[in-house]
Amino acid sequence: MSVVVVAQLVLLAAAAFPAILASTGLGGLDSLVRRRIPQHASSFQFRLINGTGDSFTLSDTPHAGQNGGVTVECTTVSACARGLYTYVTEYGNVDIWWTGSRLHELPTPLPKVGKVVNGASIVPWRYHFNTVTFGYTTAFWDFEKWELLLDWLALRGVNLPLAWVGYEAILFDVFHEVGLDDDEIFDFLAGPAFLPWNRFGNMQGSWGGILPKKWIDDQFALQKNRLLPRMLELGMTPILPSFTGFVPRAFHNHYPNAQTVNGSSWSGFPDTYTKDTFLEPFDPLFSQMQTSFIAKQQAAYGNISHFYTLDQYNEINPFSGNLTYLSNISSSTVASLRAADPEAIWVLQGWLFFSSSSFWTNDRIQAYLGGVEDNDSMLILDLYSEAQPQWNRTSSYYGKPWVWCELHDYGGNMGIQGNLPAITQGPINALRTNGSTMAGMGLTMEGQEPGNEIVYDVLLDQAWSETPLDIQGYVKEWTKRRYNTEILPAKVEQAWDILGSTVYNNSNPNAQATIKSIFELAPNADPTKLVGLGGHHPTLIPYDTNTTILAALNLLVDSSKALPSLRHSPEFTFDVTDLTRQVLANHFINLYTNLIAVWNSTSTSPQDVAHAGLPLIQILQDLDTLLYTNENYLLSTWIKGARAWGKGNETYEAFLEYNARNQITLWGPTGEINDYASKQWAGVVGGYYAKRWEAFVEILVGQKASGVVYNASETKETMLNIGELWGWRRWGESEGEVWGTKGDTWEVVGKVLERWT
Ligand SMILES: *[C@@H]1O[C@H](CO)[C@@H](O)[C@H](O)[C@H]1NC(C)=O
Ligand SMILES: *[C@@H]1O[C@H](CO)[C@@H](O)[C@H](O)[C@H]1NC(C)=O
Ligand SMILES: *[C@@H]1O[C@H](CO)[C@@H](O)[C@H](O)[C@H]1NC(C)=O
Ligand SMILES: *[C@@H]1O[C@H](CO)[C@@H](O)[C@H](O)[C@H]1NC(C)=O
Ligand SMILES: *[C@@H]1O[C@H](CO)[C@@H](O)[C@H](O)[C@H]1NC(C)=O
Ligand SMILES: *[C@@H]1O[C@H](CO)[C@@H](O)[C@H](O)[C@H]1NC(C)=O
Ligand SMILES: *[C@@H]1O[C@H](CO)[C@@H](O)[C@H](O)[C@H]1NC(C)=O
Ligand SMILES: *[C@@H]1O[C@H](CO)[C@@H](O)[C@H](O)[C@H]1NC(C)=O
Ligand SMILES: *[C@@H]1O[C@H](CO)[C@@H](O)[C@H](O)[C@H]1NC(C)=O
Ligand SMILES: *[C@@H]1O[C@H](CO)[C@@H](O)[C@H](O)[C@H]1NC(C)=O
Ligand SMILES: *[C@@H]1O[C@H](CO)[C@@H](O)[C@H](O)[C@H]1NC(C)=O
Ligand SMILES: *[C@@H]1O[C@H](CO)[C@@H](O)[C@H](O)[C@H]1NC(C)=O
Repeated sequence: MSVVVVAQLVLLAAAAFPAILASTGLGGLDSLVRRRIPQHASSFQFRLINGTGDSFTLSDTPHAGQNGGVTVECTTVSACARGLYTYVTEYGNVDIWWTGSRLHELPTPLPKVGKVVNGASIVPWRYHFNTVTFGYTTAFWDFEKWELLLDWLALRGVNLPLAWVGYEAILFDVFHEVGLDDDEIFDFLAGPAFLPWNRFGNMQGSWGGILPKKWIDDQFALQKNRLLPRMLELGMTPILPSFTGFVPRAFHNHYPNAQTVNGSSWSGFPDTYTKDTFLEPFDPLFSQMQTSFIAKQQAAYGNISHFYTLDQYNEINPFSGNLTYLSNISSSTVASLRAADPEAIWVLQGWLFFSSSSFWTNDRIQAYLGGVEDNDSMLILDLYSEAQPQWNRTSSYYGKPWVWCELHDYGGNMGIQGNLPAITQGPINALRTNGSTMAGMGLTMEGQEPGNEIVYDVLLDQAWSETPLDIQGYVKEWTKRRYNTEILPAKVEQAWDILGSTVYNNSNPNAQATIKSIFELAPNADPTKLVGLGGHHPTLIPYDTNTTILAALNLLVDSSKALPSLRHSPEFTFDVTDLTRQVLANHFINLYTNLIAVWNSTSTSPQDVAHAGLPLIQILQDLDTLLYTNENYLLSTWIKGARAWGKGNETYEAFLEYNARNQITLWGPTGEINDYASKQWAGVVGGYYAKRWEAFVEILVGQKASGVVYNASETKETMLNIGELWGWRRWGESEGEVWGTKGDTWEVVGKVLERWT
């Protein structure tokens, strides 16, 4: 299909939505320029013009004076932000990264554009966030961290972010209003690091202490005073929470005749923490509580958005698969939203159709979506479009608009990988498919760690290009501005050619979302057990683990010897650290394989096993030392961020720290979803994973000596006990934890490469 047809689709999709409620003033962009590019604070002029969709023109300001000036005209605030981004990246060779903003390095005088540059988005919506990112990544963020991400999003043209923060404040009031008391409500709410799954109705309650009311109040203040105003001034329409139907257990006592069902058990949690009670949307109380929720939210934040996130069946199946029942649920749900806000649009995170695909047969999906008559009152996030799209088996969700989303990451895991062809060609093909109702593109990573940034940039840039981006050319330009070099050294280019054609050209269908390193999993003598979550969380590495990353790393290290200024680039240093991290993680596989072979051989002694075990511990300690050199890899950042919300209240701080540690290790109170959100951070690798492997080697040595047959469940128990101790550990008690970075990256990289390659 031709490009012309694509443009028509875009217009149709854009026209289908009601007016955007985001701010139409450009003051927010002036503030962004002052914040990030203070030396050019008055050199950028933004002007809104009439027009459809999101488009901009970029040109030199006439008579701008000797330092130059740039004018951006746009049809929306978001398009102006994107126009500014086009200028700073393509003409200024600077960018804003997850590792920090380098926009202040924009040269003076400003580089000339020399012509009029046009840009337009190919979709009305550019989306960001996964409900669980609010647990895995932003749970403890202060506004400074949020500010960097929101600027990052705005410049890339994102205009539809999910905005969950502070949800519990309004929910609390709604529960109070229907007669529940504090204790009954707190019995339901999860701890700060686990709220997303409480919001999803997967779990209820908090272990290690109840959720402090102070937390709820502080998060609400962050949302109301900082996040929502900032999103609006940056031209974004926030997707707000709504009443989902999940209620405290005690609801049943207050309303014995209310139509409720209890969900199934989620992820092996004990009943105390799962089987949430769900108020059926066709019960009149549901609509009453929805109206109350939305009215309170409007009173708190103003009438700022018609988009509402609402998921009832994320990883829990409906009470019945009866088609009439399913369409009744959705029609009642949308009716409740529309009763509260006549222009409401229900945003559904479409993970369920993939994760529970055996329940969600096509006729059930059609019945559920069909319960919502008006197609434009729903927007569906096709959550894992790069590998497991569902839009194509549902004829574009039977007419409902949907967003092409890149998932890419589970639990904030850090393996280097990506599939650039899938995220360039995929969305364009989807948009061109006959009958496509694709209305947006976005990022739905579960957790956001600073590695692999290229795969996220590519998707958001693709949203402004009608043809698939040329990957090789893209990677080159991207690298040039990432390292802020005028001319890209040949070896740097070669290094990224290797990465671009291997790790970022990964088409293995079983290793698309995450590649986990085996050392992050509870040790086991059976290598087939070293996969996360029964195979959903693969450790399979689809490239040559001995050579690929190492070759790219050596090229980067060499080029920094020839051009030492590269080492002043924080992103260059980060990438070298990240590649070294992955080299060590991959080499660990060889060490493990050797250990198991030695242990399993009939001709070896306990001493041989102990000897084969030593390098596993050594390499983890070296990795820990490496990670300590870079501020992006510190456990202390996560812990400090959590404790900061306690503001000196020791009990509260300890609770926050416990939540923070628990999430990245055991997850549930006793190892439910163990290691799912594992992190290669300084303090975790040396203080936790190395300890577990040490204990494991001891078990193997002991069994070799005694001749006892290997007992995997005994090993598992030992590992969980270590996890429990570590989860409970208090700040500063674990060895080697410091508040900040220590050591020099280049020195450490030199040493570890010498030792391990
Ligand atoms: C945009 O269009 C509206 C109505 O068509 C008109 O009133 C307004 O003056 C136009 N604004 C600009 C800047 O052209
Ligand atoms: C749901 O769980 C609540 C609390 O555990 C219980 O009181 C109620 O009877 C259950 N409801 C159903 C329908 O099983
Ligand atoms: C928001 O909209 C509702 C109707 O949906 C209206 O009753 C209310 O007054 C509005 N609030 C504000 C602050 O404009
Ligand atoms: C589904 O539920 C409806 C209404 O309760 C009922 O009439 C119908 O027979 C059910 N269908 C099946 C296949 O059980
Ligand atoms: C949904 O089901 C409830 C309970 O069976 C029933 O009272 C209601 O009329 C149904 N609503 C629709 C729209 O079918
Ligand atoms: C949808 O696309 C995916 C990925 O390309 C493919 O694996 C799957 O078979 C397709 N499904 C259908 C029903 O075409
Ligand atoms: C929704 O879209 C589907 C598929 O294009 C179409 O058949 C249906 O008529 C639409 N519904 C409405 C109410 O427009
Ligand atoms: C696209 O679909 C429509 C109806 O769904 C059909 O009339 C038309 O022929 C199709 N076009 C192509 C190029 O397949
Ligand atoms: C990426 O992999 C595909 C095969 O999956 C291959 O055809 C293509 O040439 C590769 N691209 C690069 C840049 O190596
Ligand atoms: C241990 O050796 C036996 C016998 O050679 C073999 O069957 C088994 O797969 C080996 N186990 C592991 C974990 O390597
Ligand atoms: C990596 O090298 C080791 C030897 O050091 C070898 O045993 C292993 O098979 C190699 N792995 C791959 C994927 O080639
Ligand atoms: C400290 O926090 C705990 C737990 O949230 C709370 O119960 C207690 O009242 C707080 N103490 C003070 C002095 O605020």
